[in-house]
Amino acid sequence: MNIGIDKIGFATAQYMLNMDDLAESRNVDPDKYSKGLLLNNLSITPVNDDIVTLGASAAKSILSDQDKEDIDMVIVATESSVDQSKAAATWIHHLLGIQPFARSIEMKEACYSATAALDYARLHVQKHPESKVLVIAADVARYGTNTPGEPTQGAGSIAMLISKDPRIMLLNDNSVAQTRDIMDFWRPNYSTTPFVNGIYSTKQYLSMLKTTWEEFQKRFETSLADFSAFCFHVPFPKLALKGFNKVMDKNLPEELQAKLKDNFEKSILYSKQVGNMYTGSLYLGLLSLLENSENLAAGDNIALFSYGSGAVAEIFTGTLVNGFKDMLQPSRLESLKNRIKLSVEEYEKLFFEEVEVDSEGNATVADYKTGAFALKEIREHQRIYGEVNDNK
Ligand code: HMG
Repeated sequence: MNIGIDKIGFATAQYMLNMDDLAESRNVDPDKYSKGLLLNNLSITPVNDDIVTLGASAAKSILSDQDKEDIDMVIVATESSVDQSKAAATWIHHLLGIQPFARSIEMKEACYSATAALDYARLHVQKHPESKVLVIAADVARYGTNTPGEPTQGAGSIAMLISKDPRIMLLNDNSVAQTRDIMDFWRPNYSTTPFVNGIYSTKQYLSMLKTTWEEFQKRFETSLADFSAFCFHVPFPKLALKGFNKVMDKNLPEELQAKLKDNFEKSILYSKQVGNMYTGSLYLGLLSLLENSENLAAGDNIALFSYGSGAVAEIFTGTLVNGFKDMLQPSRLESLKNRIKLSVEEYEKLFFEEVEVDSEGNATVADYKTGAFALKEIREHQRIYGEVNDNK
């Protein structure tokens, strides 16, 4: 049975921080961010825009009423949970009006979990061919001011509808995963920001890419020559570029090398404007590739490298299907320019503002601009979300 991605949607914050402004404020050469990390802007979420609102907005942009009747599982992959018990998927299920007889769960393994969610969705549809699964990757990457990770923050969500006979990309039954118990990036329950061994984390990313790719080629008797594009987890685009250079085979015909290089450049266009979306980053790369590449055709194979600190990596593949372009939007680079530009001072206030809950468990939440949904208030310790009806 053919199973894969039938629809893919994206939502990000309505505010952004320019990297040159950040560099100036931090007394850093702007080239370090624009050339050293390959980043131009970061999406910045206010206190009323979180994984629930971002995830619901991304999904709302793609779902029809029929999809909402057909979906019987909602999986939210995230490491930016808003609750230790209740799954973000339960709020999103309600906000979207999905039929009640559905399973809703949250999954975690740093930036890797959306890949596990996709595989679970694929297996579920294999068993229940009429069902559709909504997989949402949503995160807010927040490292703190004046930290090495600060220029690699970001936020956003990718929503994917998984079904049989998908109209964008088949998910093939071939993957290799790898686990290493390492401390490259982690966030204990008592901390709102992660602890990071930054350079070590980049080495582990590249080492797990190399070893997983070697194993993948061996197990499936394949090589880069069988692919038109390779997408990577993008904590910041420069690391993905290093990953691309690691898998590139200089013995391939020059034309194929050029095609792979061009498609790689297309896959990082959105990340350069958004920053790290943690578990959604790989899929933002896929979306960026599909909406901006001019040389892809039905039947083309795409390799994907997923990496989550801690660490789990996986390489898997997809195959584009006839008419995939009809299911996508034109490039979103122009619309990303519509985000409200913040000064560094405004960013420092907005991104780190926290809801102050009183002794009764109530809080008002500032009414900043969001996508289709917003956190409205906290009432007796309960987060109350709603649709945004006005045009702020
Ligand atoms: P840093 O202090 O910016 O490191 O920290 P750097 O001094 O090595 O500079 C970075 C690059 O800028 C280097 O390029 C410099 O040469 C260059 P490279 O040599 O590596 O090609 N550079 C310049 N280029 C042009 N003009 C200049 C200039 N100055 C320097 N004037 C670090 C970098 C990644 C450590 C930091 O940003 C960080 O800690 N980030 C957070 C951790 C991270 O993103 N790790 C990635 C792997 S782990 C992962 O992917 C998982 C993750 O997404 C989380 C999860 O799974 O949940 C993070």
